[in-house]
Amino acid sequence: MRPAFLVLAAASLSATIVASSRAQEDAAPIFGITLPPGYREWKVISVAHEAGKLNDLRAILGNDIAYKAAREGQLPYPDGSIVARVAWSYEPLPESAEAFGQAQSFVAGKPTNVQFMVKDSTKYASTGGWGFAQFDNNKPAGEAVHNACFACHAIAKGRDLVFNRYAP
Ligand code: HEC
Repeated sequence: MRPAFLVLAAASLSATIVASSRAQEDAAPIFGITLPPGYREWKVISVAHEAGKLNDLRAILGNDIAYKAAREGQLPYPDGSIVARVAWSYEPLPESAEAFGQAQSFVAGKPTNVQFMVKDSTKYASTGGWGFAQFDNNKPAGEAVHNACFACHAIAKGRDLVFNRYAP
């Protein structure tokens, strides 16, 4: 009985270690943010198109707290707000020429990456109250990528670091 028990205990211990190191791997560096569950179902704050090298289409989504604040123009955003930015490559719709006689329709192609801003004015006091995270294929991007977020978003300090406005 005893050896079997030990084997089981060891197995469950190593399972715990694997689970906790996986949780760390899945968290974005610096800010420790993991993918918020259900973010793809959040409400649309606005949409945007990046030209140049990014050449994408994006939607800016908010959890209930962020969406309400954006909609009511409340600044600063309250703690608990999470703003998501999802994006896809900017692609011509194959059937567009047939429909319009010219390539006129551009739609979402493959997903690129997702970014999040998480408001916690205590935890993230040194970065304007926001934590930042980027995931590529559900895996957090590297530290250098995360070091760049706050510096650029500080340009929008008059809007609590959030560039996009609610699009009515
Ligand atoms: C060089 C400047 C720059 C850097 C670096 C940058 N962003 Fe942004 N970000 C922008 C601009 C400009 C917008 C608004 C236009 C848009 O939606 O594409 C934006 C939009 C966003 C939004 C939607 C909310 C908003 O502010 O409008 C999120 C979320 C976001 N960025 C997260 C991040 C994260 C996370 C990082 C780092 C991994 C990051 N950004 C790095 C410039 C930047």
